[in-house]
Amino acid sequence: MSRRAEFEEAHPEVHILSHQQAGRVDLVMGALGWLGDEEQVTACSTLGGDSSTVMRVELQELRGGWRTAVLKQSLPWLRRDESVAMPAGRGRAEFRFYRQVARLPEAASHMPRLLGGDEKRSILLLEDFRGSSDLTVLYCGRVLDEDAAAGLGSFLRALHESTRGCEDRELSNPGMKGLNHRLLFEAPYGLAAPVGEGLGPDGPALDRPALDELEEGLGTSAMAMRSDGEFRKAVAELGERYRDSDTCLVHGAFHPGNWLLLPDGDVRVVDPQYGEWGDAEFDVGTGLAHLLLARQPEEVVRTFLSAAAGRSGDEREPDDTGLEQREGEPAVEAGPPGLDPELAARYAGVELVRRLIGGGRVPLTGDAGVRTALLATARTAVVEGHLEVLRT
Ligand SMILES: Nc1ncnc2c1ncn2[C@@H]1O[C@H](COP(=O)(O)OP(=O)(O)O)[C@@H](O)[C@H]1O
Ligand SMILES: [Mg+2]
Repeated sequence: MSRRAEFEEAHPEVHILSHQQAGRVDLVMGALGWLGDEEQVTACSTLGGDSSTVMRVELQELRGGWRTAVLKQSLPWLRRDESVAMPAGRGRAEFRFYRQVARLPEAASHMPRLLGGDEKRSILLLEDFRGSSDLTVLYCGRVLDEDAAAGLGSFLRALHESTRGCEDRELSNPGMKGLNHRLLFEAPYGLAAPVGEGLGPDGPALDRPALDELEEGLGTSAMAMRSDGEFRKAVAELGERYRDSDTCLVHGAFHPGNWLLLPDGDVRVVDPQYGEWGDAEFDVGTGLAHLLLARQPEEVVRTFLSAAAGRSGDEREPDDTGLEQREGEPAVEAGPPGLDPELAARYAGVELVRRLIGGGRVPLTGDAGVRTALLATARTAVVEGHLEVLRT
């Protein structure tokens, strides 16, 4: 029996939605009280979620009013490939994350408004950013606007600072944290759980010939890295730290696929399915890794880091990241709250490795040798906690 059929049998109360069945979407939204008086769902179109069903819903009123919203349903499998299991609690966790953020005005201003949520059916209704597109184009040569980079950093700072020290266990998301651990600290090194448990959204890590085909010499570098004891020890230690960390609420998947560019140039952040308690540096490091993969100009990267660390553009020195300085380095004034640059560098390093030789590769462009060079950067980041852009 397929994963879906098994689920349907066990959960007859959960209506599995599809953009091809607007009538069914109308019935479910009506039952949940999400439709206004004399309002009806007239059309649905897919927004192409990779792991969940994400659709634009058009709603028409009898008297002529019209609006749209985004409906997202997350089931315990990957939408792109239903044979791959996903943690069952992810939809509930995303709903709770949005509900929490709605109480944090500054962080909420960078995300869609939560219009409705149903834990049992694992459905969310969100403000629709019509005309927006995700920022995966950054990997293909597009440069992020500095204001947009600052917006992304400000979102992280607002999220992390306003939840630092809170201990709301309702927001813990162990299934997705465990999956993230596997994706980052195990799968790229061939330590993933047996097939059946599944690799989650990433495919299998590439072997040497496949990597060499991507870029000459990449396979050799990857093999050296996978058998590098010092590096592997640093990865394992960071993995332990990741598991135990609970300083503040983190987004958990802070990359261009979840950054939306609005028609007016603003950015918004979506998809907090991996949202959990963790280290602020985890989100900052992940975002930083993707800006490096996308080969963004240094000013853009520094603007992002400064905003994430709590510096406004006016307060910033031209080359000041706003992050605390490493021990033994010349002191710089760190902006509140002061992130740990070594920790941010280490988290950036493991994300770089995952995206370069693990299963979650991104469509990089650039000169020959770019991947191998980034892999070397990643090793230094993980082992030494050092990334040049995190130093002034
Ligand atoms: N509120 C929204 N407004 C407009 N587009 C959205 C919105 N939320 C998601 N999308 C689009 O749908 C895509 C998938 O949504 P996402 O929540 O990231 O799903 P998944 O968990 O499957 O990755 C996003 O990359 C974006 O293009
Ligand atoms: Mg997404």
